[in-house]
Parts: sequence; C-alpha cells; structure tokens
Amino acid sequence: MQIETSPLKRHEIDADIEIVCVVAKKMDHPWIEEKDLLEMAGFKGEQDETCLLIEKKRLYVGVDSLHHDDVRSAYAAAIRAVRKTQAQTVKTALYLGKCSAQNVKAMAEGMIFGDYEYDTYRSEKAKHPVKKVTISCEDFNGKTIACEKAAAYVQNAVILAQATNYTRNIVNTPPDDMIPEMLALKAVALAEANDLECIVLDEKGLEAENMGAFLAVSRASDHPPRLVHLAYKPKNAKFKVALVGKGLTYDSGGLSLKPAEYMVTMKSDKAGACAVMGIMKAVSELGLPIEVHGIVGVTENMIGGNAYKPDDILTAKNGTTIEIRNTDAEGRLVLADCLCYAQEKVKPDYLLDFATLTGACVVALGEYTTGLMGHDRSLKHSFSKAASNAGELTGTLPFNRYLKKLLKSDIADVCNISSSRYGGAIAAALFLDHFIEKEYKHKWLHLDIAGPAYVEKAWGYNPAGASGAGVRMTVKWFEQIIKQAEKKQSSDPSHGE
Ligand code: BES
Ligand code: ZN
Ligand code: ZN
Repeated sequence: MQIETSPLKRHEIDADIEIVCVVAKKMDHPWIEEKDLLEMAGFKGEQDETCLLIEKKRLYVGVDSLHHDDVRSAYAAAIRAVRKTQAQTVKTALYLGKCSAQNVKAMAEGMIFGDYEYDTYRSEKAKHPVKKVTISCEDFNGKTIACEKAAAYVQNAVILAQATNYTRNIVNTPPDDMIPEMLALKAVALAEANDLECIVLDEKGLEAENMGAFLAVSRASDHPPRLVHLAYKPKNAKFKVALVGKGLTYDSGGLSLKPAEYMVTMKSDKAGACAVMGIMKAVSELGLPIEVHGIVGVTENMIGGNAYKPDDILTAKNGTTIEIRNTDAEGRLVLADCLCYAQEKVKPDYLLDFATLTGACVVALGEYTTGLMGHDRSLKHSFSKAASNAGELTGTLPFNRYLKKLLKSDIADVCNISSSRYGGAIAAALFLDHFIEKEYKHKWLHLDIAGPAYVEKAWGYNPAGASGAGVRMTVKWFEQIIKQAEKKQSSDPSHGE
C-alpha cells in the first residue's frame, strides 16, 4: 500500500473510496454529507464502527476522539472495511488533534496495520489489498499544516509500521521454516539491505565466548544455534545503545516439557529477537543519529538424549555458575550470555533486552501489556511515556530484595528459577540482574513482551498472532532521547562557541 499526501482539497482528488471520520458521534459537521443515510443504516459512529455508502463512494468510520490511539484504530478499521470491497484507491483528509505530528503518523500507521494479514501459507490469499491512499492536507477542524511536513510524518510512520510488520512476519513464520540458521540469514539479509555491520557466531563462536548457558539450551536441537550481532553506526551518533533479544525459534520446555496446550504458540518465543531486528530496520531507514547494536541469541529448546537437565550446573560467560531446576526457564540462560556479550563488546550508554520471558508477566499485566523492569526509575518513566506515545502499553513491575533472595542456590552461584511460585516475571528479571555489571545497572531496561508479542485473537488494530510488540515504543523512545539531547545541546552556552 502506497500512502501519499496532497495539497489538493478532498473533492479535487480522484479515488475509488473516501474515508470520512465521525468524531465523537457528532454528525453535524459539513463533511458528513449523508447524515440521513447514515442514520437510516443504523450507524451510530461508535469507535471503529464503519458504514459503507458505496453509491456515494464513501466509507464512514467512528472515532471517539482525536487522540492518536483512537485515530490509529479507526483508520485500521476503515482500511479493513475497504479491503472487503473492490476499491483499489482511497482518499481521506487530516484529523489533527493536540499534536499534529502524532495524528498524521497515527493515520498512516493505522492504515498500514489495517492492511496487514499473515497469509503466506494460505492457498486462498487475502481480500483485496489497497493499492494507493492519498491524504489531502485539508483538515477536519480547519487546522493547517505544511504539506511537506505532513509528508515527512507519513514517511516516518510508513517506515515504522513496515518495520513492525517485518517483525510480525518473522514471528508468525512456523518453527520448522524459521530455524535458527534461517533467522540468522534473515538478519544477514537485513544487514545487506540496510548497510548494517553484521557478525554471526556459530557453535564454535559461542564456545570461544564461553557461553555455557546459551550452549546448554541449544544442545538437544538438531538445528545449530546462532548469535547475531548487527550494528548501525551513523557518523553523528549521540548515544550508543545495545539491544538484546531472546530468539527461541521454538520452546518445547526441554526436559521440563510443556503440557501440550501450553506448547502451542511457542514459535513466538523468538519475538524478542525479531523485535530487535525490526528496530534495527526502522532506525537505519529513519537515519536516527544514534549508534545501535542488535544482539540476538537464537536457538531451539528441545528434548533428546543430550538435552541439558534439571540438576545440571552451567557456567555463563561471566563465570557465574547456574543451578538448573527447570529447563523451561531457558530464555534467561540465553539472555544471560548475550547480556554479558553486549556489555563487553559494545560498552553501551543504554542496554535494553526484549524477551517473551515469563507466563507470570502475562498473569500480572494481562496479554496486551509489556512488563517493564530495571533499577533506574527515570529511565523506566521516560521509556513508558514513549511507549504510550507510540500506542503501546507498558506496566512497571518493581524489584525487591526478598524476591532476589529466592534465587539462591546451595550448590551454585544462582538458581535459574525462584523457590516461590509467585512473582515470576520479577524473579526472572532479577536472575538477569546477576549478569548486569555494576556500571550498567542504571543503564539497563528489561522488557518482558510475553503477553503482547503474540495474541491468538485480534485486539484493536493488532491482528491475531504476532503484533511486533517493542518496535514502535523503542523507536519512539530513541526519538525522544535524541530530541532531549538536542535541546540540551542548544541551551548549553559552552556549545557552538
Ligand atoms: N517462553 C516461556 C514464557 C512464555 C509463556 C512466553 C507464555 C509467552 C507466553 C518461557 O521460556 C517459560 O517457559 N517460562 C516459564 C518459567 C518458569 C519455568 C519459571 C514460565 O513462564 O512458566
Ligand atoms: Zn521456556
Ligand atoms: Zn521461552
């Protein structure tokens, strides 16, 4: 779907269908020319409700407010409705709210998300994809915005939404087709297309890095593991960030085997790694002035005669010994080694990890919310604000010393599970904390995306299956910290003399 902006008025643009919003159920706006017909059709203008008046070549959609979340959702619903028709070209106008940039972006994002469907493996392909959308720079409330500005916002949103869809596609790919080597090849292809640096470590490479925890998890798989290190290094970088992703292309639970009904959907256990790849794609296409390293640990957690076992003691890259009491708590083992690698090789200003780490996080926050954890209160606060501006939900889960004590082992430095069945999401993060060096404690954020990364039923503008959780919030946070750094620079009297 191609989206373009136009300085022409709505009426001057030629298209198969026009999308018109009904804001806050108010039908007395001059743009709503078919008020009587809409009433006759029983259209109330509820959020995301659509009404197609095909002879009028109009599709009406309800939007509760001009908040960017509502606008994004309404435009996704509108495009889903257009896809049921034969229409190939669409026109619409601007619905600017408090923040023009946010609303223009939300419209474009919503439309790209509404057009997304994972149908790679279906013989009968999707409905009719929309070919072209033209957004007139005329605004519903008479606000004005320079058309070039609107075009730039649209371009930014298109990059972000497409990067999110890129992540969704990889996460949705079945586990036998997206084996670790294939995921690594995808990363190599991304590096080639986007001019990123790329290092791939195989088993020998992991051994050379002393990644005993990661290697143990991968041992029973017929498919060899991979660690991929992508790097985007622009000349004008203001910060250095390392992103670490859990890439379990399948999590059967290992010898602590998952029950059948919990194993289904575990192809999604690679969503952290895929989010990191989506972020690398977006950041490089947006040309953000920030050095970003993406480090993903990719493997399967399987069963077999050579599987790692409960009772084993593993040695991680930093020398920490880990008593294994449950092989299904495998993500933290892979992350432990990858986090050590990221600190040693990158020495970042910020260290973020993304993982579908615990079912407990889903119990705590529900399916739609990412669990946000870390030692630094202001970092958590600034990130959660960015997430909300991006249209993603986060909830902060607090650390405490009592939960940390429950990870103690009598025979090793730490145990891979807590001795209590409660507080599992926080306990997992506190396990990771054993692998964060002192100097990085306040630079580290842990994002448990076990809930939103993959939901079997569609929610809002998110489709059934993978959502691409983590991509939009992180890119938004980058944009936010870049802006803050620029502001500081321009107000610093010693600068530019
Ligand atoms: N991949 C799972 C976590 C998960 C659960 C992700 C549901 C998405 C949806 C993880 O590896 C796991 O199995 N964690 C265990 C930890 C437990 C053994 C301490 C869990 O959450 O049950
Ligand atoms: Zn597991
Ligand atoms: Zn897992």
